[in-house]
Amino acid sequence: MLEQENPSIRTCPINRNHWYVVARSCEVKAQPISITLWYQKIVIYRDQAGMIHALEDSCPHRLVKLSQGAIVGNEIECAYHGWRFNGEGKCTLIPYLNENQKLPPCQIRSYPVQELDGFIWVFPGDKNYLNQESVQPMGVPEWEHLNYIATVSIIDCPSHFSFLIENLMDMYHGHLHDNYQAWTSAKLQNLSVNLNRVDAYYDAQSYYTIDKIWSISQLFLPPLRRLHPEPLTVSYLYPHWVSTLGKDFKIYCLFCPVHETYTRAYLIHFTSLHAFWRLHKLPIWFRRWIKESLFGCAQKMLDGLVRQDITMIAQEQEAYLNSSAQKSYELNPTIYQVQKLILKQAETV
Ligand code: FES
Ligand SMILES: [Fe+2]
Repeated sequence: MLEQENPSIRTCPINRNHWYVVARSCEVKAQPISITLWYQKIVIYRDQAGMIHALEDSCPHRLVKLSQGAIVGNEIECAYHGWRFNGEGKCTLIPYLNENQKLPPCQIRSYPVQELDGFIWVFPGDKNYLNQESVQPMGVPEWEHLNYIATVSIIDCPSHFSFLIENLMDMYHGHLHDNYQAWTSAKLQNLSVNLNRVDAYYDAQSYYTIDKIWSISQLFLPPLRRLHPEPLTVSYLYPHWVSTLGKDFKIYCLFCPVHETYTRAYLIHFTSLHAFWRLHKLPIWFRRWIKESLFGCAQKMLDGLVRQDITMIAQEQEAYLNSSAQKSYELNPTIYQVQKLILKQAETV
């Protein structure tokens, strides 16, 4: 039996030198939005050319939130006195500047940001690390791929991010999910660990087989499901998570740790249409229409899973806050490796 060996895991900071996901692309429209990534308040805005920018969410004049302002051309204008800032965080205009006055040399922090595969990715760390291969944004290649049907559920979890990733890596908690889970009877077969990742290989029984055009209805009609063995893989690709169940399902969880006791994450479930080879020969516009029409088809299942998980994780966090010295017991070696990785990553900053 493995005792929890790392009490500091529940307060451990993130490694800032990675790309984190802070919003869905569709959340960033004409108005700026405010997000928090590990205590840093950031305004995300889309300029009139459609480009995304990320700046510290604080006007240097009176330190109010820039995210309350508006977009003017490619710049953001503070709501209070109308000072404007460009995408690099440089002040470009003060509407009441006298002829004999100069713009103050104020500079707000700008963050590297990318819009990739339906999400906004921000790099909150040291820009010198940006070119390293190990810190490229993970991406979600299935997002645009015509053979995958997506569903997205947002996880707002009142806990440290370690509780959430441990929940995602520990496939023995299928017990909690009853009708929502796609699989049952998971058994850990293998565990592989390196500097940036932990991969856990389970054998499981899957409820779903996606091989007929109406197979998708198994997602909402339990009597149509038939148990059969499938490999179940879960991977912590620090700081995000990916899982596959056989060939039919792939799930991502993209992390935005907000602070020590709050984590936002985006869970993306993909159902694969790889078995329908006839479909792949149809015109692209039709396949795109199918993909878009079926978007969200696993919503009820995914939201149900998220609700059940958050309830448990919130209790874990609460128990920790009430008594941080209290021991807990763990039988799954995956969890110990995940904790080690989190602590190791935090050390490298
Ligand atoms: S506080 Fe932003 S312009 Fe004055
Ligand atoms: Fe779960």
